[in-house]
Amino acid sequence: MAIQNLPTQVFAGQRPGTSGLRKKVAVFMQPRYLENFVQALLDVLNGLAPDGQVGTALQGQTLVLGGDGRFFNRVAVQTILKLAAVNGVQRVLLGQGGILSTPAVSAVIRRRQAFGGIVLSASHNPGGPDGDFGIKYNASNGGPANEALTEAVYARTQALSQLRISDAPDMDIDTLGSSQIEQMQVEVIDPVADYVAVMRDLFDFDMLRGLFKQGFTLRVDAMNAVGGPYAKAILEGELGAPAGSVVNAVPLEDFGGLHPDPNPVNAEDLIAHMSAADAPDFGAAMDGDADRNMVLGRNFVVTPSDSLALMTAHARLIPGYSSGLLGVARSMPTSAAVDRVAKALGIDCFETPTGWKFFGNLLDAGRVTLCGEESYGTGSSHVREKDGLWAILFWLSLQGATGRSVESLVREHWATYGRNYYSRHDYEAIPTEVADGLMVALRAALPRLQGAQLGTRTVVLADDFAYTDPVDGSVSAKQGVRLVFDDGARVIFRLSGTGTEGATLRIYLENYEADVSRQDQPVQAALADLVAISEQVAGVRERTGMVGPTVAT
Ligand code: G1P
Ligand code: ZN
Repeated sequence: MAIQNLPTQVFAGQRPGTSGLRKKVAVFMQPRYLENFVQALLDVLNGLAPDGQVGTALQGQTLVLGGDGRFFNRVAVQTILKLAAVNGVQRVLLGQGGILSTPAVSAVIRRRQAFGGIVLSASHNPGGPDGDFGIKYNASNGGPANEALTEAVYARTQALSQLRISDAPDMDIDTLGSSQIEQMQVEVIDPVADYVAVMRDLFDFDMLRGLFKQGFTLRVDAMNAVGGPYAKAILEGELGAPAGSVVNAVPLEDFGGLHPDPNPVNAEDLIAHMSAADAPDFGAAMDGDADRNMVLGRNFVVTPSDSLALMTAHARLIPGYSSGLLGVARSMPTSAAVDRVAKALGIDCFETPTGWKFFGNLLDAGRVTLCGEESYGTGSSHVREKDGLWAILFWLSLQGATGRSVESLVREHWATYGRNYYSRHDYEAIPTEVADGLMVALRAALPRLQGAQLGTRTVVLADDFAYTDPVDGSVSAKQGVRLVFDDGARVIFRLSGTGTEGATLRIYLENYEADVSRQDQPVQAALADLVAISEQVAGVRERTGMVGPTVAT
C-alpha cells in the first residue's frame, strides 16, 4: 500500500445545496469528481490556514460512514475509505455493506461520540445508473454541517489541485469487525443496532408489543430503500408485528424503479392498500434514506404539518417526552398548525428556513424538542436528522396509548385547534433562467403586494423570508417569498435546493378553517382561490408554459 498524490481538476457546481451535494450518478462517476469533493471536505475538517496549509485536526478522530445503498454507494464507500486513510482519520465506523440510514448515521455519531459522519444519499430522489447520488457531511452533534462549513468545502473544491489517496485494494465492507487500511482502522458495524437502542429509550416497547398481541395491523412500505432493515428489525423483530407488515423491505440499488418519496403520489400502492376494504389499522412509508415519513389511517392521509401539530399536542403520552417539550420548530413553508398547539401549551415555536440543518442549533441549545417540515419530515432531539421510523413509532404509540384511530385523532385535533388546509404545488424541471426570472419578478413586486387586496383577502405581510438564528446570530436571507393574508392564509414561493435537473418551483398553499362543519372539503378545492391568487401574482403558467404543477401533494 502506498500514498498517491494525484492531480485533480476543478469541477463546476460542487456547492452543496439544501442537503449536501446532489447530482446525477453520471456526474459523480466522472473521474476524480467524488475524490475532489471528499478531499476538499477532509482538508476543511483537518483545518485550513488562510494560506491553504492543511492542519491535522482529524488525527485521532473517528468518522461514521454509510449510505442508503443506492447505485454507486459501494464504489463511493471504497473511494472515501482510501482518501480518509491517508488524510489523518484514525478510525471509520462503517455500516455493514456501506448501509446506514440518515437518522442512523446521526444516532451512531452521537452515541459513539464521533467527530462527524459522511452520509451517501440523494434522499427521495430516484436511484440507479440514470438516477441521482449525493454526499453530505454531518458534524459531531449528528446534524448536517452548517453553511459556513459547506461553503468552506465548496471554496476548497474550487482551489484544490491535488488528491491524497491510498492505492490499497478494495476492502471487505460486508463482514462485521475490524480491519486496517494504511494507518486507519475500519470497523464494520451492524447498521441497525445503535438506532434500535435509541428507539428503545424513547418508546414503550412493552406497550407496543401488547398492541400487536391484541391484533393491531399495519403496513409499512419501505419503498425498496434503506428503511426496510430498520423497520423489519424493530416492528416485526422487537415488537412482534405480523411477518410481512413491512413491504418492499430489501434495499435495492435502483429502489426497484420506485421513486422513494413517501407522498400520496409516489406511494400510490400504499394509498391503494389503505383504502381497500381490508385495510390495516395503520399505514406508513419512508423515503430512500429513511428520514422522511408519511403516515396514514384507514382511507385517511395525515398531512405532514398536521402530523407535527398532533405529535406536539400528545407528546407527553410517549415516555421519551413525558416531561413535556422544550419548544418546537417548523420550517417557514410548513403550515402554522403546530403554532396553535405551541401557544396552547405555552411553549416556544420557531420558524426556520427550509432544510433540517436550521434546526440543529435550536436542538443543541435545548430550545426545542420536536421539529418538522411540510416535506414529510418530522424528528426530535434524539438525533439531529428527521427520522422516518421514529415518526412511525410515535404514531403507533399515540394509537396504542389512546386506543384511537389515526383519523379520529386528527379530526379531534381539527375540532380543537382548527384545520390548516395545506398543499404544495411543484413545477419541476423549469429552465433555470425562467425560474430565476420568476423569483426576481416576485421580489420586485413585494412593495406593491404589501397591503394589496387579492380576491377576498388583504395581504398583511409580503416579504422575502430572512432568518436570524437565535442561537448564533447567523443570518440566512432570501429563503422564500411569502404572502400572508388577513385570515391567516399563506402563499409561499421558493425554488428547490435539492433538484438535479433545471429548477423546481415550489408553491405552498395554506388556508385556516376553524369551523368544524367546513373541515371536510377536498383539499385542492379548499385551496382553489389561493391557487388563483398565486397564478395572478407570479404568472407561472405564462412564464413556464406549464398548465399546472407536475406534482401536487
Ligand atoms: C426539500 C424539502 C425540504 C427538505 C429537503 C431535504 O428541499 O423541501 O423540506 O429539508 O428536501 O429532504 P428543497 O428541494 O425544497 O430545497
Ligand atoms: Zn431523505
